[in-house]
Amino acid sequence: MHTPSVPRLALIVLAALSVAGCETELTSGDEFSQTYDSYLSGCANCHAPSAPGKTSDTEQALDFSTAETARTTLRTGVATGLTGNPSACNGVPFVVAGKPNQSLLLAVLDADARKTFDLPSHPNCDNDAITDMAVKVGGAPNSIDLDNLKTWITNGAE
Ligand code: HEC
Repeated sequence: MHTPSVPRLALIVLAALSVAGCETELTSGDEFSQTYDSYLSGCANCHAPSAPGKTSDTEQALDFSTAETARTTLRTGVATGLTGNPSACNGVPFVVAGKPNQSLLLAVLDADARKTFDLPSHPNCDNDAITDMAVKVGGAPNSIDLDNLKTWITNGAE
């Protein structure tokens, strides 16, 4: 008979917990770390000090080296060093706590969020100026990762 391995059991337990609604007990920080591990860590290929994919036009304030640097630079930083069309987004915060539709992080990851992005202080940072970053890591985040990020932002991005 096949005995489930420990990681497999852990997955089953996690799945059962989330079905029971226990995911609301996670702090917003846990949601962020999960999504960092499964998705945002790929952004470090370009957005990190001396990242292999970094070029002179790469956005400069983000640092996805670790979950903690990602969290901090996203929470406190504004887009810096953009040239050409995306330059309309220089000065735009990556995350506005409590406001997913004003958070550039979601707009670079999700086509719908790009269309509804609306930050009155930067009216030209719109669907035409905001670049699709999901394509640079091989695809859009799955719905769990996207929902985790929305929840993290809605709950104050801590
Ligand atoms: C292959 C390199 C590369 C990867 C991987 C990459 N980026 Fe970028 N990123 C860039 C470059 C270059 C720019 C500046 C040019 C632009 O905006 O098109 C940029 C700009 C940005 C901006 C500002 C965008 C704007 O248009 O206002 C954000 C936010 C961003 N990246 C987030 C991310 C996130 C989140 C990920 C991971 C899902 C990611 N990037 C993955 C190269 C990359």
